Amino acid sequence: MSTLRVLTGITTSGTPHLGNYVGAIRPAVRASQQANVESFYFLADYHALIKTSGDPARIQRSTLEIAATWIACGLDPAKVTFYRQSDIPEIPELTWFLTCICGKGLLNRAHAYKAMLDKNAASGAEPDDGVTAGLFMYPVLMAADILMFNAHQVPVGRDQIQHIEMARDMASSFNHLYGEHFTLPEALVDDHVATLPGLDGRKMSKSYDNTIPLFAPREQLKKLILGIVTDSKMPGEAKATEGSALFQLYQAFATPAETAAFAQAFADGIAWGEAKQQLFDRIDREIAPLRATYDDLMGHPERVEALLQAGAAKARAIATPLAARVKHAVGLRPLQAASASTTAKADKAALPTFKQYREKDGLFYFKLASAQGHVLLQSSGFAAPKECGQAIAQLKTHGYSASPALHPQCQLSDGTSATDADTALQTLRDAT
Ligand code: TRP
Repeated sequence: MSTLRVLTGITTSGTPHLGNYVGAIRPAVRASQQANVESFYFLADYHALIKTSGDPARIQRSTLEIAATWIACGLDPAKVTFYRQSDIPEIPELTWFLTCICGKGLLNRAHAYKAMLDKNAASGAEPDDGVTAGLFMYPVLMAADILMFNAHQVPVGRDQIQHIEMARDMASSFNHLYGEHFTLPEALVDDHVATLPGLDGRKMSKSYDNTIPLFAPREQLKKLILGIVTDSKMPGEAKATEGSALFQLYQAFATPAETAAFAQAFADGIAWGEAKQQLFDRIDREIAPLRATYDDLMGHPERVEALLQAGAAKARAIATPLAARVKHAVGLRPLQAASASTTAKADKAALPTFKQYREKDGLFYFKLASAQGHVLLQSSGFAAPKECGQAIAQLKTHGYSASPALHPQCQLSDGTSATDADTALQTLRDAT
């Protein structure tokens, strides 16, 4: 329970570029190597459909490229849980449960949706022109991604903070209605990550068409770097590092000592051609070994597929039981349990309970009942309430099987196994 769970999703709608590498992939891979963190990374391919619908080949290609990129960059599928969203059917299932408790007004306030409304207002179009229900519902799908694994922290860019807040809102509404099922997640925003300039000096971004693909073949990488805009200073003239895209790119890959030397070369009037060659060498030194792994994986998509399947199995070991609990909590249940579930109050909390009471014989007793009200354990009489309380505390902390000294005073009821009692006690422990 106590390990920190960190989860993040990568939308599979594009080819990773150097800006993604420096700003997201490299720091995330480093963070995933920390001890005492349980990391979840997933390919958000359901999200990709929102932006890229009507282009199936592109989604498939991008999913392969992004999966191969993360593995090539050092994400270790044995240490982290690395999976594809659409391999986890519990996520769309949970999306519906959250849809039914999420206020429409909350979604109306989403920045991405509001931006579309503003754009349409400005151009005189219908307010919802070009807005699919998928775009509108996107924050609910994203909440399901996060809550499905009870993540504590979600590393995201600033533009995503609102979505994490919405996920918190949905988690607390759900918990309020149906019992404590979900952890309230927090956004983790790293203000120190570099944003890289692109070929034209503006921020490197797909929407500006100024990117350098992370795994462009070596020759193409060189050509692209030679095309980075500079001013028209001649060789021998001192060059400013401030505002130089070339310099910022170099800095993102170099050690402080290398960066200082590069700054000195600028002051000494290095020719732009030479500076670009040095930049290419420096980037390629870091990227070349990763590129070799990437090219290898791209040539063997079946290996990537196998890794994702293994990741899905790991993820579903968590998602399947949680989805089952949630489904039960909202009332989608086998019908034979219906009569036992009419005690609406006990049901709402969906937790097993201890009841302590005093009998006419003057002795103190307790029983453990399941969330549905079935008695699992029944004690014999204790002389003092304190002894009764101690026995309960012992069971709560260690479970039934691990407390053999209590067995003479504490009987399993008919049809209840020691495992049933242990499971109920574990549920109680997890919830408190
Ligand atoms: N919407 C995120 C983005 O565009 C990607 C994403 C989908 C995500 N689901 C997520 C990020 C869950 C964090 C957690 O960047």
